[in-house]
Amino acid sequence: MKRSLGVCYYPEHWPEAQWAEDAARMAALGLTWVRIGEFAWGLMEPVEASYDWGWLDRAIETLGAAGLKVVLGTPTATPPRWMLNKHPDMIALDRDGKPRGFGSRRHYCFSHRPYRAECARIVTAMAERYGKNRHVAAWQTDNEYACHDTVLSYSQAATQAFRDWCAQKYQSPQALNRAWGNVFWSMDYASFDEIALPNLTVTEANPAHVMAHRRFASDEVVSFNRLQVEILRKHSTAPISHNYMGQITDFDHFDVGADLDIAAWDAYPLGFLSDRLAATPAHKHRFVRQGDPDFQAFHHDLYRAVGRGRWWVMEQQPGPVNWAPWNPDPLPGMARLWAWEAFAHGAEAVCYFRWRQAPFAQEQMHAGMLRPDSVAAPAYHEAGQVAQELAQMPDVGTARAQVGLVFDYASAWAWETQPQGRDYSYFRQVFETYRGLRRLGLNVDILPPDTADLSAYPIVLAPGVATMSEPLLAALAVHQGQSLIGPRSNSKTADFAIPLPLPPNLPNLKATVARVESLPPDVPVPLTLGGNFLHWREKIETSAQVLETTTDGWPALIAARGLQYLAGWPDEAALSRILQQLCHKAGIETDPLPEGLRRRDTETHQFLFNYNAVEVEWGGKIIPAAGVLWQKLP
Ligand code: GAL
Repeated sequence: MKRSLGVCYYPEHWPEAQWAEDAARMAALGLTWVRIGEFAWGLMEPVEASYDWGWLDRAIETLGAAGLKVVLGTPTATPPRWMLNKHPDMIALDRDGKPRGFGSRRHYCFSHRPYRAECARIVTAMAERYGKNRHVAAWQTDNEYACHDTVLSYSQAATQAFRDWCAQKYQSPQALNRAWGNVFWSMDYASFDEIALPNLTVTEANPAHVMAHRRFASDEVVSFNRLQVEILRKHSTAPISHNYMGQITDFDHFDVGADLDIAAWDAYPLGFLSDRLAATPAHKHRFVRQGDPDFQAFHHDLYRAVGRGRWWVMEQQPGPVNWAPWNPDPLPGMARLWAWEAFAHGAEAVCYFRWRQAPFAQEQMHAGMLRPDSVAAPAYHEAGQVAQELAQMPDVGTARAQVGLVFDYASAWAWETQPQGRDYSYFRQVFETYRGLRRLGLNVDILPPDTADLSAYPIVLAPGVATMSEPLLAALAVHQGQSLIGPRSNSKTADFAIPLPLPPNLPNLKATVARVESLPPDVPVPLTLGGNFLHWREKIETSAQVLETTTDGWPALIAARGLQYLAGWPDEAALSRILQQLCHKAGIETDPLPEGLRRRDTETHQFLFNYNAVEVEWGGKIIPAAGVLWQKLP
């Protein structure tokens, strides 16, 4: 398959007279895709039930006539103002019960059934009109579910939908009371109608209640999306995607992805580094104009799994963004490097966001491929270079990795619900593991939590999976390779209680987590072989083989055949050592990389990505600052 480039474009922001020239420039640059439409409900339906498709017909025709393929977005992230007159209660309420008002975007509650009906109506109208349009070659549903913290809503609509969800799941209030342990503080319910959402309680709500609410809220995103997908499929055979985000775990992306053909995500490396990455100031300083060397790759691998192999970058940062605490200019070369890194991880397409910087409204400080005056900005030239390189490049394929790393959204909710130590973050735990693997030069596949077949992976890791699924446990029981599970893995039931017998309850491993402790970051638990546990450690009683201990005499790493259990959160040194031993046992060579240099092998090529601001030498090769190097594998 040929990899391709694209761009996000808003014809409605520019005079119609400019569209043809824009389209011609896009095509001349070597772009294939143009995503449009996702915020244009107000123009598609300026007045209720009175549609204006003329401008969109002409925009699609103009782009298509230039040879571009259109990704058409459904506009449900931006309901027009009249919608709120009609449905004043469709907006979400925040945790404090305050309404989230009009004047930006995503001002809707996923649970509001009449709003869903409005979405079905506009999506039906679009699908009927453009489902057979020869230029519309893909769809995008809505835009960035969960963006701006919009999954959890405490509205009346959400309350009612949650009650229905609980009734479906537990069948009787008595069963729910038992499952949640409501006897604890006289929290029993006599009817489902008595159940409220878990906000505004005097102190902490029952974690089982909170966890049920998180599962419910995720299911609401899934059914909201499915409604649109079912309509689009009736009228169109073009693939359907959604654009997910970075480090957002508020709904189960695997569940949403199961209904879609392509998982796309929006990659803003410098925004993420500044805004959400947990890292030292020195690290953020070093990579301020390049982005974190593992953050993009992690999401590429995650969304390859969410898309069951088919994934895109729908929005690629082209220059400074507007929304992070600080918004630096990428180093020359990074807009190219980011695109190539995505292709090396198997992306079908990379679309830059956006074509031309808008001189008005919220994102006027957000760079595009063009300046507001239509002069080319740096990303324009870098995208052109990538387009030329792609044209000369045979397909690079996607290789299967040596390591499978389980990622589980429900575990992110579980440890947010009950962190037990203030800095316990599931995302961080998995991401640090991923980073440790990549530092050793390894290729990683992310695995969904119900993976039933691990036979392709010599190494499997599953840190912090709160409730391990039956298929995963069964797969581990017959796994021939090495696996590293823990800490905190399999330590809750699906209804958020401590299981009996006590965790970890892993195949063939005779071990009991007798006690856990969380610790402030400046209180390490040293390991006898070097490095420390940080944040979290477990005291284990076991008759299994003890591979390592803490200096205070507790088992730190235990094993039963190829399965190892880690009894704490390892720091960088400990993780690196443990991973290298694991690789050694699995017969995999490791090759620690210089800081900021990363490697990805495909079926045919080895790629090297230098996230440093200076050139790096490795394996006899010089990789320029912010540069990419590839060579054919023997
Ligand atoms: C994304 C969003 C785009 C735009 C962009 C700016 O989160 O999907 O519409 O706002 O960020 O970086």
